[in-house]
Amino acid sequence: METIRDKKFTEIYSHILGEIERGSVDRKHGFHLLNFSTYDEESGYPDSRIVVLRKLIKNNFTLRFHTDLRSKKIAHLQKNFKSFLLFYNQKSKLQIRIKCDSQLLSDEKSKKDTWDKSQEISRRCYYVPKAPSSVIDKPILNDDLDVEDKNLGYKVFSIIEAKVVELDILELNYSGHVRVKMEVQNGDLISSRWIMP
Ligand SMILES: Cc1cc2nc3c(=O)[nH]c(=O)nc-3n(C[C@H](O)[C@H](O)[C@H](O)COP(=O)(O)O)c2cc1C
Repeated sequence: METIRDKKFTEIYSHILGEIERGSVDRKHGFHLLNFSTYDEESGYPDSRIVVLRKLIKNNFTLRFHTDLRSKKIAHLQKNFKSFLLFYNQKSKLQIRIKCDSQLLSDEKSKKDTWDKSQEISRRCYYVPKAPSSVIDKPILNDDLDVEDKNLGYKVFSIIEAKVVELDILELNYSGHVRVKMEVQNGDLISSRWIMP
């Protein structure tokens, strides 16, 4: 098995960027789904959910995922942009824990382009008339959704950008687990050190 043990820190950094990029384009890759956590000030608890990794912008190490503007995670981010990402790839035995600063993408053109390119099945998630987490009488059926209101989907479609500030990488290995901590600033690797697994 390929290991990060013998790599230089800069090589590990490039490797991680490469793996995350693969996760953004390959639905079968172990990093295609990730755990995104925000802080819920109201309850005082952290809140986590699975999201699909849609894009990696390598030069400033920013990850993108799509969500409903009305969802809790957006409300959480508007109060506290500090957030957390968690990946685990069972095949490569690689866990990546990421401190990040997240915000809504404000570039309307980029948002529109993404929407226009998205598949109908993905768009359907945004035609739900009520906000995620709303209490409802019974579970919804897609057949009941009003997909005629073409604006509804786009109105609530939003893109979250999570900018990486710290990486904690753990590789499980029979000969000894390997763990690295890295600080990142605008996509540049600022510091790296081995730490106890
Ligand atoms: C496999 C899987 C993929 C998901 N992908 C997304 C996603 O890309 N974006 C999203 O907003 N929610 C996604 N969800 C739903 C979220 O996990 C969550 O239930 C929803 O966004 C509401 O979260 P919130 O109320 O905490 O904001 C996904 C759930 C699963 C199980």
